Amino acid sequence: MGSRIVATGRATPRTVVSNQDLERRMDTSDEWVRTRTGIAQRYVLASGESLVEIAAIAARSALDRAGIKPADLDAIVVGTVSSDFGFPSFACQLQHQLGIDTIPAFDVAAACSGFIYAMSVADASMRAGDYDRVLVMGVDALSTMVDWNDRATAVLFGDGAGAAVLVSEKNNRGVLSSLLRSSGGYWDLLYVRNRGIRTTMDSEARRVNEDAIRMKGPELFKIAVKSMEEVSRKVAEKAGVALEEVSLIVPHQANLRIINAVAQRLGLPSEKVFTNVDRYGNTSAASVPIALDEACAMGRIKDNDLVMLNACGGGLTWGANLLRW
Ligand code: ACO
Repeated sequence: MGSRIVATGRATPRTVVSNQDLERRMDTSDEWVRTRTGIAQRYVLASGESLVEIAAIAARSALDRAGIKPADLDAIVVGTVSSDFGFPSFACQLQHQLGIDTIPAFDVAAACSGFIYAMSVADASMRAGDYDRVLVMGVDALSTMVDWNDRATAVLFGDGAGAAVLVSEKNNRGVLSSLLRSSGGYWDLLYVRNRGIRTTMDSEARRVNEDAIRMKGPELFKIAVKSMEEVSRKVAEKAGVALEEVSLIVPHQANLRIINAVAQRLGLPSEKVFTNVDRYGNTSAASVPIALDEACAMGRIKDNDLVMLNACGGGLTWGANLLRW
């Protein structure tokens, strides 16, 4: 017994911020951001907008496509570091938003690797026979954690939510293998202190200095490339699959140069690598499920295709899931 994704969904805040919008706010340029990151625009949360409501839209869209009612779910697992509260968890807030009760709902905190981790946790519980229908989500709003005057970080992140509905699978489709890694020694390459400050791009309150996301970009870049290559090779090996057999990689959308470098090291042609970082920026845990949903909508994934999801993020954390669609 395993687990298989039967439907996906996505949702974003309404506000689109282009590189030109950022040019008007800080000392940066569309040219710099595009060439260094591949990003042209991102969606950001506005004051008064609720990330839980946005997540519920993505969840309902995936559940509708799966033909499953919220009340039929056995569990909710959310990869996120963006809950408005220390507790309750984001998953509990989402459960309430979906109008359901009682089933276990919990968060998995692994920053940008959150969805990969949540998938692995959900799949393991389903293999153990605990649940048959699980809503797995990646949701984040790192735009609420940056210093909007810090051009080194403010240009990178966007907000959103992605959902996948997993059902028990008796055949050989679904999650074939997962591999999770972390290295706490690298915590200071990317972090934000939790001081209970809620901000949005348009709010008066500002995150600055030690309250905002801190990042050592160039060091992170090198480790992200190495770690995502390593985990992609190992997750394929674990499943007994050759990398050449993989039809599509849906990587974490942090930076087009990271994505291309990993693909090159793995020897995969660009048509086997899905990217949408140009339109979303880095949406942290939401990036893989948003990209997966777009890849499905564009007809890039067919039944029985081998699909690899991989990510790297704060922690550091990294990981991959290999799926037979
Ligand atoms: N606009 C214009 N200039 C900028 C900007 C900006 N937004 N940001 C930095 N610069 C300047 C710097 O000040 C520096 O100027 P200097 O040479 O005069 O000192 C110059 O550009 C080069 O800066 P670097 O940081 O060396 O630029 P680099 O080529 O490394 O690109 C980047 C920076 C894009 C952050 C890159 O290091 C990167 O992508 N790192 C990975 C970070 C990441 O993706 N983090 C997300 C989470 S982790 C993950 O998801 C994998």
